[in-house]
Amino acid sequence: MKLIIITLSFILSSFYLLNNKVTTETSLTEVLIKLGDKTPLHYKYKTNDTVLIRQGFEIVTKGRTIAPNGKLSKRQSKYFVCTDCHNIFREDPDLTQSNPDTRLDYAVKHDIPFLPGTTFYGMVNREHWYNDDYVKKYGALVVPAHDTLVNAVHLCSVECSQGRALEAWELKAVMAYFYNLEYKLKDLELTSRELQQINTAQTSKEKKEILTQLKKHYLNYSPATFVDPIPVDKREMGKNGDAAKGEIIYKRSCLQCHAEGRVTNFILSDNTLDLKFLKSHLDKDSHKSVYTIVRKGTYALPGYRPYMPNYTLQRLSRKQMEDLVAFIQKEGN
Ligand code: HEC
Ligand code: HEC
Repeated sequence: MKLIIITLSFILSSFYLLNNKVTTETSLTEVLIKLGDKTPLHYKYKTNDTVLIRQGFEIVTKGRTIAPNGKLSKRQSKYFVCTDCHNIFREDPDLTQSNPDTRLDYAVKHDIPFLPGTTFYGMVNREHWYNDDYVKKYGALVVPAHDTLVNAVHLCSVECSQGRALEAWELKAVMAYFYNLEYKLKDLELTSRELQQINTAQTSKEKKEILTQLKKHYLNYSPATFVDPIPVDKREMGKNGDAAKGEIIYKRSCLQCHAEGRVTNFILSDNTLDLKFLKSHLDKDSHKSVYTIVRKGTYALPGYRPYMPNYTLQRLSRKQMEDLVAFIQKEGN
């Protein structure tokens, strides 16, 4: 009898192990929790409910969706959708760094925009939001969003999007969609040894070790450094820039919002006239200088809410700014 029980429990436990074996397709969150990591506050929003996920996708990309009452919901913002400023794809080849140079190459390779906000891909895997200079500059406004993703979503819906707060069902849908964009183990490019360790870790010490190791494979927040636009000497402007790279930035970033029919009345294209205008505004010291506008952004005005977000150093490097200027100078003749 005893033997039967032992054999049975052995069979059962190996079955359990087999079924719980992590693969590269396994959700990172699940693995972290299994290894003893703290459950994220937003974990309760994780779901496979495809209706909810689709609603979330539509809210994020179109601002509205079919509500649970069967009617088309009210637009979240009159001016923006989330994807005007955020990608919904992976955008960094190396998840351990926030590097705008490698990100731009990656954007070209995968034909995705190059935007001022960070991607929603892996958003649920971060542990802090609105970091560094956002906290320093905006203080109390962003503090509640710093450790709580749901608060970051609320903050950005109202402040960044210049729209209304999400209703409870909309928040659930957006978070369900965010979980659909969570990291899988394959995103982390683990060694086969690490993968094996996850599967074999038994003691809490072993689990802790592999947990620490896993977390070295990605950044758990997106760093943000604001740049003071120092007026560049007229003769130096764009001198070290690469106009070809600048053109890519102009098209994959600036024109995402400034092309006709997009979010602003200030319409730009890659025709000479528009580039001439920008060229004539490169070195103005006023707030109209292209350098200043890109680094500081613009403000929402009463009655005219679309504004331009600032580009932090992690979203546009100093060299990339010069590349953009080189392009404007070359084509704006
Ligand atoms: C006009 C531009 C803009 C729009 C529209 C916008 N955001 Fe943002 N959002 C930003 C910027 C800029 C940040 C700053 C932090 C970052 O992403 O690097 C940010 C930050 C966030 C963060 C925290 C990211 C982090 O890692 O720190 C979340 C979450 C977020 N936005 C969600 C949303 C959602 C949801 C919507 C749509 C309802 C939205 N945003 C619309 C520009 C925008
Ligand atoms: C997320 C959307 C967005 C992106 C990306 C963006 N802009 Fe803007 N930009 C705006 C909005 C909105 C305004 C406000 C002006 C308006 O609508 O009249 C603006 C204003 C400007 C202005 C000032 C117009 C004026 O005279 O007041 C300049 C210059 C400008 N942007 C250049 C750029 C450049 C260069 C880039 C790329 C590096 C860029 N923008 C990227 C949305 C954007």
